[in-house]
Order: sequence, then C-alpha cells, then structure tokens
Amino acid sequence: MIAKILCGYRDSLMHAMRVINDNGLGIAFVVNDHGVLCGTVTDGDIRRGLLNDVDLDQSIERVMTRQCVYGLVDDDYEALVGKVSNKIKIIPVIDKAGKVVSYFQYNQSLNFPVAIPNLNGNEFKYLFDAFFSTWISSSGKYINKFEEGFANYADCSHGVAVSNGTVALHLALLALGVGAGDEVIVPDLTFAATINAVLHAGATPVIVDVELASWCIDPVEIDAAITDKTKAVIPVHLYGQPCDMDAILDISRNRGISIVEDCAEAHGATYSGRKVGSFGSIGCFSFFGNKVITTGEGGMCVTNDAELDERMRVLRDHGMSKSKRYWHDVVGYNYRMTNLQAAIGLAQLERISEIHRNRECYEQMYKDALKHIKQIEFQKDDFQKRRKITWLVSLLMQGQNEREGFISGLKQLGIDARPFFYPLSDMPIFKNYCKRPTKNAKLLSSRGLNLPTYESLKSVDELKKLFSCWQIQ
Ligand SMILES: Cc1ncc(COP(=O)(O)O)c(C=O)c1O
Repeated sequence: MIAKILCGYRDSLMHAMRVINDNGLGIAFVVNDHGVLCGTVTDGDIRRGLLNDVDLDQSIERVMTRQCVYGLVDDDYEALVGKVSNKIKIIPVIDKAGKVVSYFQYNQSLNFPVAIPNLNGNEFKYLFDAFFSTWISSSGKYINKFEEGFANYADCSHGVAVSNGTVALHLALLALGVGAGDEVIVPDLTFAATINAVLHAGATPVIVDVELASWCIDPVEIDAAITDKTKAVIPVHLYGQPCDMDAILDISRNRGISIVEDCAEAHGATYSGRKVGSFGSIGCFSFFGNKVITTGEGGMCVTNDAELDERMRVLRDHGMSKSKRYWHDVVGYNYRMTNLQAAIGLAQLERISEIHRNRECYEQMYKDALKHIKQIEFQKDDFQKRRKITWLVSLLMQGQNEREGFISGLKQLGIDARPFFYPLSDMPIFKNYCKRPTKNAKLLSSRGLNLPTYESLKSVDELKKLFSCWQIQ
C-alpha cells in the first residue's frame, strides 16, 4: 500500500502527478534510493510549479517540500494527531533510519459514529401530524398509542411514558415505596443512571459483581448482599443481554424484595421466550438517540400491576389526583413525555422487528470482518434461556492494552468504538456503596468495547477492507 504513495526524488513531475492521481490522496512522499524520506509533493505543489514555468518532465525536486511534517513509528495516536493540521492531514511515518514505513491520515469527521438513529419510517409523518394537531405537550393520541403499543410489545399490560430512562428508574423506585433507609442492589457494570436513580430516591445502593460470561448482575452476589434493609434489586440487561431472571426471582420471592428491571439497552430481549421488562414489578426502558428505538430523549415504565401503573401516572404528573384536579396527595414530579416524542416512538415501534434484524446482520458482519483477529471474543449468545438482542455490537479483547490499541486503531479508520462502562465501584462518588470484591466487573470493564451499530452501516466488504489493515501488535 505504501508503495502507491512513494516517488523517487529523480522522478518527473508527470510521474508524481500519476502517483497522486492513482493513490487519490492528493500527496506523494519523495524518497531517495534507500527509501529514506526527502520530502513531500502535493497536487498544490505541482500546480504552483507549473504556474512558475517548471516543466512536467523536470524533477520533483523542483517543487517538493523538503521540510515536511512526518510521524515516527513510535508515535502514538495522540502524537500523530498533534502533528497534522487543517492544511496537512496526511503525513509519512518513518522508522529510525528515516525510511517511510507507513502514513497517518487524520479523519476529523468520523465516518462511523457509534450510533445513528434511522428515522426512515413513519417518524416524520406522525411527527408532522402531532405538530399540526397542536397537541405538542404531554397529552395526545400518540402518547396513548405509544404507551399501549410498547407495553404490549414488552409483554405487559401497562406502559407509562416518561421523559427519559433515568427518570423511568426513579419513578419505578418511588412507586414501589423505595426511599431513605432502604437498600437497593445494583450491578457494578452499568451506566451510572442505574445507581443515580437509587440515590435520587434517597435509598442506599449496594453494588455487586456481575457474571463473567453474561456480563450481567450475578444472582449469587445478589443473594450474598441481601440484608433486612434490602427493598429492591435492579437487574440491568446489559448491552442487550438478559439477566438470569429465574435465579433472581427465586432469590427475591417471598422476601419483600421488588425487582425493577433496567431494560434501557435491551428492548425486545427475551428470557424463556418472554420479553425483558415483564419479569419484575416494573421494567424501565430508555429511548435515547443511541437506543434500539428512540424518541430523541424518552423512556417508559412497563408493568402488569394496575396499582403500580396508577401510582406512576400520579407521580409522573406532579402528584396530582386523577379524580380531583389540582389536588395533590403526594409530592410528585413532571416526568412526562411529549406527544411529539411519542409520535416518533410509535413509528419506531412499527419497525422494531426490522431494526432488530438489521442490527443482528451487522453483528454478523463484524464477526465475519474481524475473524482474522483471534484475540477478539464477541458477546455470548448461546445461553439456554436468554435471547439477547444486538444493541451495540460488544466484544472483549485479551487485555486493556489490546483494547486501547484497537480503539485508537479504529479511530484512525474513522470508526468510533467505545470502551465499556467503568465499574461504578471505581468512581469515588460511588465506591463506598461497594462492600464486596467485583473482580469480574473490573476485568470486563478493562477489556470490553462497543462498535458502531446502526442501520446505515456499510457492507461487509467495506468493513473488511477497513479492518484488514488492522492487526494486533
Ligand atoms: C443501563 C442504562 N440504564 C439507564 C439509562 C438511562 O437512560 P436515559 O439516558 O434515557 O436517561 C441508560 C442510558 O443511557 C442505560 O444505558
């Protein structure tokens, strides 16, 4: 590949023009007979040379930039980025002898962000309809349709649409009466919203470890952490993988412990054929822009318990009595979703099976494109009762160094990969809530990463091409 960018210092301008034309990069690196870098020549250098009466058959030396910017093989990504500028985006990389061994190209705008929502269904049509109906606040037909439709999708009888996934968790805990003096068990490996919601409710979080194989909360650890203050457990179906719900329900049954499922990353995942969100007292979903389906910001609590549904509706709406307007029996919140958001959500929900199918295809594409990198271990999908969905394609590398190297290598290819969440227990504001070792969470957090996953991803061939130049050092 590098040969396509090189010219000899005795070559003609014409030759340099051909090299630049063929490589499509707008630049060639000029080397001596030993491959040592002498300078660079760009489209612009040649144009300026021609305007100054240099002939096409004269040597490149007449126009090349001798004092050029270059990288060193030992430079890390940050160092290389520091050397490029607005004007110079491609630089040669040389070894200790000064020989050109590769090049660095800086892609300022990433081609592959981690997530891009697909709004190509009825999203705009319904949004337009909601807009022109003037029902743009939190009442309107789309709210009702989206709540009904999503609850039904999640195998539940009630759905309470809210403004985001974090307040869905908070509302669920409040409706269950969780508050000061209560303990709520949460996994160490999750997004901070899970533990924040517990703290917002005034309860004490108890952080426990996750299973090494599934990355989800470990039932054995839950059991060991239960005290007479335990009021709830929040199993998080992490990165689309369902938790071991039989074991979790067995532990909590008859002990006055509620289960609030955090399904923010797992819309449609199933356990024993039933959708997540329908196992606990309440299931909480997020519809943030990077989620399986989105309403921009948004969330939903689903439940099969009519009383909990009623309580959540009151709390969501300022604590206002449903039978007596402007009468407040409890201190409430404004956690409502707008009709505009619900209009988008309903259109997304119509296509959720198609969205899942596409995401699964992309996961398979990544598996194909990366199979030459043996150090990669994709998220497990062969548990007996658990059927995961593909949220963000997730994988483990052998160690933290390999993970960091892979992420920065991907960045150079314009692929925005993300490291896993930090363990909650690593963060000073949360660490005192963790009393037991959480070695699996720490290990997974140091080795895991998520890849861009969305419907407008490229074909497997393009991905293969991108990944083929990347190798574990
Ligand atoms: C596991 C988990 N829980 C809760 C949330 C909170 O959702 P939101 O961002 O909609 O508040 C998220 C989302 O980002 C999440 O990943």
